[in-house]
Amino acid sequence: MLGFSPISKKRKRVSVCLTPAMVDLFKVEESIAVVIDVLRATSSMCVAFDHGVERIIPVESIEDCMAYRQQGFLVGGERNGEMVEGFDFGNSPFSYKNPALKGKTIAMTTTNGTQAIHAVSHAKKIVVGSFANISVLTEWLGKQDENILLVCSGWKNRINLEDTIFAGAMVKRLRQWYDLHEDSALVAETLFKAANFRKRYFLKNSSHFQRLMHLNLQEDVKYCLRKDTHPVIPIMENGSLVNLLASRK
Ligand code: MLT
Repeated sequence: MLGFSPISKKRKRVSVCLTPAMVDLFKVEESIAVVIDVLRATSSMCVAFDHGVERIIPVESIEDCMAYRQQGFLVGGERNGEMVEGFDFGNSPFSYKNPALKGKTIAMTTTNGTQAIHAVSHAKKIVVGSFANISVLTEWLGKQDENILLVCSGWKNRINLEDTIFAGAMVKRLRQWYDLHEDSALVAETLFKAANFRKRYFLKNSSHFQRLMHLNLQEDVKYCLRKDTHPVIPIMENGSLVNLLASRK
C-alpha cells in the first residue's frame, strides 16, 4: 500500500516559477517572492550589499538607468552579459567587491534579473537569492511562515539551468519547514539532485554559462557558484533593495 500522507492544509507552501513569463499562474500577492539570477545579477547584488552598498534600485530599462545617472547615482548592469556603455559597472560580482561603495546607492538594470524583480512587484515581500547567501536566506524564510515563491529569472522568459538548479537547492533546504505542493518545486529539486552529482555536465550545457565563457568571464561563473560567500538578505523596501541584516551588524 503506497503510504500517501494527506497534504496538510495548514502549512505554507513552496512553489517554483520557472520563468517570469509564468508569474501570473501563481498567487504572488500571497507569497514572499525570492528572485533568483545566479549568473550573475542576484549574486552581484549580494556581493555589493556585503561591501556596504546601502541601496540597489532595480531598473527595467537602460534609459531609466541613465536618468538615475544624471541625478548623480552610480549605475551598473548589462545586456546579454556585456556591460552597458556609459555605466559605472557591468554585472561582474568582482566589480562590487569595492569598499569605496560603502553607503552608496546603485541603480541596476540587467537582462533578466531586474526584470524578474519588477514582474513580482505585487508580492507580499521580495527578497533576492543566490548561492552567495543561500544559508542565511533559507534560515530567514524558514521563520516567516508565509507561502514562498521561488522566481527563476531564466533567459528572456525561457527556462535556464542554473536558476532552476538553485531553486531546487532552496526547495530541498525548505522541506524542513514547508510542504511541497507544486510539481515545479519537485522538478527543480530533482534537477538539483541530479546536477549535484554532475555539475560540470550541467554547467557545460547551460546557455548562459556558454555565453559568459565566450565573454571570458569564467571566473565570474566560478565565483557565483560558491555557497555562503556573502551572508546578506537583499529585500525590497520602498522601491529599492536594502540589506535586511545591515541594521543588525
Ligand atoms: C541576467 O540578468 O540575466 C544576468 O544579470 C546576466 C548577466 O549578468 O550576464
